[in-house]
Amino acid sequence: MNVLTLLKQDHNNVEELFRRFETARPDDASELGRVRDLVVEQLSKHATVEEQVFYPAIRARLGKDEEFDVLEALEEHHLVKLAMSELQKLAPTNDRFRAKMTVLIENVRHHVEEEENDLFKQVRDIFSVEELNQLGERVDQAKEAAPTRPHPFVPDTPPFNILVGVPAALFDRILTVGRQVIGRLVKARS
Ligand SMILES: [Fe+2]
Ligand SMILES: [Fe+2]
Repeated sequence: MNVLTLLKQDHNNVEELFRRFETARPDDASELGRVRDLVVEQLSKHATVEEQVFYPAIRARLGKDEEFDVLEALEEHHLVKLAMSELQKLAPTNDRFRAKMTVLIENVRHHVEEEENDLFKQVRDIFSVEELNQLGERVDQAKEAAPTRPHPFVPDTPPFNILVGVPAALFDRILTVGRQVIGRLVKARS
């Protein structure tokens, strides 16, 4: 599939989660927490595949003086990852939870708008349809092994993001399974 279609699909899925968050009852802590977990998982994976496959491919095609949009996108990812790593530790009942999530949503919407309106346009000019399809395949593969949690202090450019990405993804999955097991044990004992 064309990489732009694939990434746009991710953007739409996350936007759907944002709307779900915005229409949830402010006192429905379990729904707010569920949506937060899904947003963190989907955005972590999406940012990783862009950083491992999409952005490096664009930078490889552009001259040093043309890559500013990608560098800006990387900085926006970094801030979003920082916000997500804080949100992960925050209880949905915390006073700051909805405010922090709202700022995250504003940042991601701004980022997606620039990506779809400026970067995607640039990408259509510098890659053939066949190349865009090949990039789509690579993005699809990278997603399978992408971390499901934010790692704001892990390098975000190749080769180090790819080297660190695999153990980070493994660690995330172990953590998620561990939490599920603990959750089940606590439920069984109560
Ligand atoms: Fe992005
Ligand atoms: Fe994106």
